[in-house]
Amino acid sequence: MSAERVDLRVQVGPLELPSPLLVASGTFGFGQEYAQYVDLGALGGIMTKAVTIAPREGNPGPRVWETSAGMLNSIGLQNPGLDTVIAEKLPFLIELGVPIIVNIAGETIAEYATLAQRLGEVEGLAALEVNVSCPNVDRGGMEFCREIPVLRELVAAVRDETELPLIVKLSPNVGDVVPTAEAALEGGAEVVSMINTLVGMAIDAVRRRPRLAHVTGGLSGPAVKPIALAMVWRVWRALQCPVIGMGGIFTGEDAAEFLLAGASAVAVGTASFVDPTSAQRVREELVEFCCGQGVETVRELTGSLRV
Ligand SMILES: Cc1cc2nc3c(=O)[nH]c(=O)nc-3n(C[C@H](O)[C@H](O)[C@H](O)COP(=O)(O)O)c2cc1C
Repeated sequence: MSAERVDLRVQVGPLELPSPLLVASGTFGFGQEYAQYVDLGALGGIMTKAVTIAPREGNPGPRVWETSAGMLNSIGLQNPGLDTVIAEKLPFLIELGVPIIVNIAGETIAEYATLAQRLGEVEGLAALEVNVSCPNVDRGGMEFCREIPVLRELVAAVRDETELPLIVKLSPNVGDVVPTAEAALEGGAEVVSMINTLVGMAIDAVRRRPRLAHVTGGLSGPAVKPIALAMVWRVWRALQCPVIGMGGIFTGEDAAEFLLAGASAVAVGTASFVDPTSAQRVREELVEFCCGQGVETVRELTGSLRV
């Protein structure tokens, strides 16, 4: 079978994507940073760095540490803030003609609602991705994803403000991911994306100090892939809802594994730091995988794991 015969188009809830290969939030900036390395127009979609209402400098350094088979980060949602993103970052992205998904983060439900309302007025966006791993200041810093009723309320408040398709980015740092996925859907989201990073820590034993100034950070990369696959599989098996899978995807076969587990599309994250052209390579390798397996439409892989 030839590569041209593989149909890469996928439908993820209301989202029509030209290919199932996206780039994950926070690992691809606002796209411009990668323009000289990657044919951005060939991506299935771009998930932006998290946007908050006010600009954020993020946490003090060191805030990145390489671990065996992964990395820890405690960037802390550094971004130029909503007004600058709308004025200076989104026009470039929208001009590319690929689906643009804006990741939003807040400290209160009202902040998320404002972000949704303002971004809902921007022409040309494909969807919003709601990062629910943020501390909720109204609840003493408890992350939104950890309290099911609060999570449902948050998503419903965002839903009320925009007609854009909503993706809720699920955290692996909860007891059971299925009820959080359910709450997201009940709140009005059409799609869930998973997984965000796992809380982790690295220590310099000689200096008796944490490697990150923030002490703990988020673990990503190949180390988290088995956890991410299991979570995608559990959500798919329980809810059969549209899922965008991510967590340690470095090869086309990794991407295929997520699709088989139930994802309709996938995102490349940490791999872009190792090689900025990773998403493009993963896409080519996925096509090769499909050719080798006689798979004519990538859609047929979703949830087709034999168990
Ligand atoms: C440096 C860095 C920054 C990130 N920033 C965000 C963010 O702003 N919003 C978000 O929802 N996820 C963020 N993530 C999580 C990724 O989008 C992704 O869910 C996670 O890293 C797992 O995928 P990976 O193992 O392929 O990197 C970030 C990850 C990294 C490594």
